[in-house]
Amino acid sequence: MQISTDTRSHYERIGGEAKVRQLVQRFYQLMDALPEAHGVRKMHGVDLKRSEDKLFMFLSGWMNGPQLFIEKFGHPRLRQRHMPFAIGDTERDQWMMCMTQALQDVVEDEALRKELVAAFGKVADFMRNKA
Ligand code: HEM
Repeated sequence: MQISTDTRSHYERIGGEAKVRQLVQRFYQLMDALPEAHGVRKMHGVDLKRSEDKLFMFLSGWMNGPQLFIEKFGHPRLRQRHMPFAIGDTERDQWMMCMTQALQDVVEDEALRKELVAAFGKVADFMRNKA
C-alpha cells in the first residue's frame, strides 16, 4: 500500500465543513434512494435530518476538524450507540456501499478517497454486533 505523504488532516484535505456536510448529505440521499440499501435505511427514522446532523458532527471530529459531536454529546461510544441495531456483514456492506458512492460523488482527490474508504471500512467492521 502506498503511504500518503500529505500531513494535513482529512478535514483540511476534504475541504472543511462545507465538504463534510456535502458528503453526509449525499450519503443519506443514497441510503434513501438505493433499493440495495433498504435494509439499513429502515433502521433509521422516517426523517433522516437528525441522523445527518449527528453524522456530520461526528465526522468533523473524526477527520481531525472541530470536535462538534464530543462538545455537544460527550464521548461518542460509537459501538455502544449502535448496539440497539442488529449489524452484520450485510448491514456493514450496505452502509459502506452508500459511503463509497458518496465519496466518489463528492471527493475529487483519489488518494484521499482511498484513505477514507479504508478508514470508514475499519469503523464499519467494528460496528458489527451479530454473526
Ligand atoms: C456498519 C453499518 C452501520 C449501520 C447499519 C449504522 C446504523 C446506524 C443507525 C440506525 C443509527 C441511528 C440513527 C438515528 O438515531 O438517527 C446510527 C447512528 C450513528 N451512526 Fe451509524 N451505522 C453504521 C456504521 C457507522 C459508521 C461506520 C459510523 C462512523 C464512521 C457511524 C456513525 C454514526 C453516528 C455518529 C451516529 C449517531 C449516534 C447517536 O445517536 O448519537 N455509523 N447508525
